[in-house]
Amino acid sequence: MKWLFFAALAAAMLLGVTASAQNAAPPAGDAANVPGLTEIMILQQLRHIKLWFAGRAGNWPLADYEVDELNDGFDDVNKLLGGDTVEQMVGAPIKALQKAIEDKNRAAFMTAFDSLSAGCNNCHHTLDHAFIVIQRPSLLPYSDQAFEPQRQ
Ligand code: HEC
Repeated sequence: MKWLFFAALAAAMLLGVTASAQNAAPPAGDAANVPGLTEIMILQQLRHIKLWFAGRAGNWPLADYEVDELNDGFDDVNKLLGGDTVEQMVGAPIKALQKAIEDKNRAAFMTAFDSLSAGCNNCHHTLDHAFIVIQRPSLLPYSDQAFEPQRQ
């Protein structure tokens, strides 16, 4: 029965290709079903957590690295969704975070972090996933990584 599975898979892929060719710019509401988005979001969540603990510890090189990773992730989201949704939702908070990190300003970092989380939630709201609510993390699940600043 394996062939049946592969035939179905091939048909589904073909359908997918036709569908995406038909509407190069899918309406925002459909964007949630784009393959790969869930996987990227799972990584974004991890980076969002690490970014918070890096900034709170004043580990600016690590915070800088995590913002870069988040930015790369959002570039990938942007490729999937098209349009300017990503820029609208998180463009300004990402820039504010980069500035706060550059200035090594913990208070500004925290404000910018909260506006990033608000941007995450705005997008979830806009794309019919308002039930996915992002907030400041209270617990660091990565006990195998040191977040305190290291001597370079
Ligand atoms: C451009 C819009 C957009 C932005 C910005 C965005 N998300 Fe998402 N996110 C989505 C969509 C759409 C889904 C649902 C994906 C799906 O249905 O597979 C989602 C799903 C998620 C999920 C659920 C993944 C799972 O399977 O448990 C998490 C967690 C998440 N996002 C975290 C974040 C975080 C953290 C940020 C900000 C740093 C963020 N998202 C920013 C659109 C966005």
